[in-house]
Amino acid sequence: MASSAPIGIFDSGLGGLSVMGAVRQLMPHENLVFFGDSAHAPYGTKTPEEVQKRCFLIADKLVEQGAKAIVIACNTATSVCAPALRERYQIPIVGMEPALKVACDRGQGRSQRVIVAATPLTLKEEKFARLMARFEADHTIYKQPCPDLVTIVESGKLGNESLVQATLERYFASYDLTNIDSIVLGCTHFVFYRHYFEHYCPPELAIIDGNEGTARHLRDVLAQANQLNNQAANGSVTLSNSNPDCAVKQLSWHLLESMS
Ligand code: DGL
Repeated sequence: MASSAPIGIFDSGLGGLSVMGAVRQLMPHENLVFFGDSAHAPYGTKTPEEVQKRCFLIADKLVEQGAKAIVIACNTATSVCAPALRERYQIPIVGMEPALKVACDRGQGRSQRVIVAATPLTLKEEKFARLMARFEADHTIYKQPCPDLVTIVESGKLGNESLVQATLERYFASYDLTNIDSIVLGCTHFVFYRHYFEHYCPPELAIIDGNEGTARHLRDVLAQANQLNNQAANGSVTLSNSNPDCAVKQLSWHLLESMS
């Protein structure tokens, strides 16, 4: 496969654009093709079977477009079907998981109190149970499903401060945040709320996401396969979505640019 072939990136909707932003920043010379499945979002309240079906369709399409690698820019889809996607295709498939290890490692040996904010399905899946089992003996970990933070982004209401504040309040008011070390944004949609979380939480509390780590991992995987694009010019960026509405296209570009 030519190293100039595009990297395919997909998500249940617009959240994956936050990952695409991190990939573009780290590897500006790569050609990137994004697919957002907004017509079928959210995935986080669907069954694993429904999510897997959508992911196969989307990844098939990206492979047809000649993708040299695929990033599952969605913690939910990764939990459900990363191994199945890896079996289905020859190209590298890079997935995501809530950055719980980063949050726990921050303690440098001291026990940490961590909230993992993610979709209901991510927190229910076996993959997360295994991740949690690695850390829960030494750390206190709270699982917080936040499905409405997905629908707010999808409906273009991220700028509605009072709605976002009220939603954060609904999910986090029961915690004593002065006693929490970090919140892990375990859903790619939530990364767009970083400034809201920073405003809502005490300044000592760290807000952690896995986007940069995912971009670095992708770079390592491509380097190992000798597939990094070494062209001098910046790569192309193509955005597509299962929802053909013009407003979705506009919102997609806006969200992507907000990450640069
Ligand atoms: N952005 C997705 C994630 O990282 C899923 C959001 C959803 O569709 O529920 O988990």
